[in-house]
Amino acid sequence: MKNIIVATGGRSLEGSIEVHGAKNAALPIIAATILATGECHLEGVPLLQDVVTMSNVIRSIGLGVEANGRELVIVPTPTVNPEVPSELMRKLRASNLVMGPLLGRYHYFRVPYPGGCAIGSRPMNIHLKGLAAMGAEITEKQGFIEAKTKGLRGTDIYLDFPSVGATENLMMAAVLADGVTNLHNAAREPEIIDLQNFLNNIGACISGAGEGTIVIEGVKELDGTSYKIIPDRIEAATFLAAAVGTGGDILIKSCLPQHFLSVLAKFKEMGAKISIYKDGIRVKGPQRLKAVDCKTLPYPGFPTDVQPQLMALMTVAEGTSVLVESIFENRFKHVAELRRLGADIKVEGQIAVVNGVRSLSGSNVEASDLRAGAALVIAGLMAEGETIIEGINHIDRGYEQIEKSFQKLGAQIERKIKN
Ligand code: UD1
Repeated sequence: MKNIIVATGGRSLEGSIEVHGAKNAALPIIAATILATGECHLEGVPLLQDVVTMSNVIRSIGLGVEANGRELVIVPTPTVNPEVPSELMRKLRASNLVMGPLLGRYHYFRVPYPGGCAIGSRPMNIHLKGLAAMGAEITEKQGFIEAKTKGLRGTDIYLDFPSVGATENLMMAAVLADGVTNLHNAAREPEIIDLQNFLNNIGACISGAGEGTIVIEGVKELDGTSYKIIPDRIEAATFLAAAVGTGGDILIKSCLPQHFLSVLAKFKEMGAKISIYKDGIRVKGPQRLKAVDCKTLPYPGFPTDVQPQLMALMTVAEGTSVLVESIFENRFKHVAELRRLGADIKVEGQIAVVNGVRSLSGSNVEASDLRAGAALVIAGLMAEGETIIEGINHIDRGYEQIEKSFQKLGAQIERKIKN
């Protein structure tokens, strides 16, 4: 028995919806609680499988985690087991975010090598090079990464690429280091700013997140705090894409539009009408979308996590769109599935050329990863007839009951159990 989503296209999305807390902000902040000596109360935590897995990771290390709906209470522990079990690392690559805080506070970690995933090989070299520069002795053998230090030292680190995870790990490692760490060419994503704010709330001294260089002045000890996670910009962009693609008109409340202006600009270029309010946004899709070109880039460029959803829109836009994926080497798995719905897409390496067709028609498709799954749901809502989407476990990692959100907006969509 497995869960499937059945979407019937043809309805324009209407109404209003609130977005949940950001998965990619919650995961590093949960890892960062390893550094805290007081209790941490996290609010606005999304109810997602990835959050459950990250909670289990820090539980396995020895912290107490209690979940009350969208609030997580994390109780510190004086002694830890600084190792992550392989099955948890396999379930969630972002489990590697415990490396920085474990090394910073306990001077040791041993974690299974995370390995590749559906969208790319995803090496750890930038994380490890940065930790080594701060004084960690790292050994990689038999599929494990082990690191120890007599105490990390602040230094200047130049990231070869503004990796989100490496920036987060190095920030967390540096907060208790001796002296000042300057992280150059750091990732600038809003989730990095959220991590900085959380860490400063528990007593860290960090500035510059959201800009190219992050400055971390080492402190002696960190406390606890209450903290609310920022809204999920990728979830907001996914709802907006569905509205734009179905010629709908929706209002998204409790989101921060300044976090996804590059996405809004692209939707506007495709013909959408956009009104931005202080904590919300209204989007109206056109009769027929216009083709656009786009290249994914580190923030504030167009996010790779919205690339599949954008491609779903391009499939029915008037004209030819060119989409370049520059962040991950293997993030076009949704192409074959979109073709099953009638899309005309050619791929050459990391470039996709999408010739817009008049309409898609429903079929059976399978999600290969989280955002590919979101793109297939959007395509299903745009297509004529019924689309059956399998591989829903991927979608559930990053969207809280996606079908419920779309039902709220008037879509004909259901989750069913298939034998
Ligand atoms: C985070 C997000 C993910 C998003 C990605 C890019 C979380 C939990 N996940 O993933 O949703 O798609 O940012 O915006 O926040 N790289 C290296 N060496 C390294 C580290 C990264 O070569 O040491 C490469 C990766 O293989 C990839 C690129 O850098 O090609 C970007 O990866 P990175 O920014 O690190 O992504 P994640 O933090 O894993």
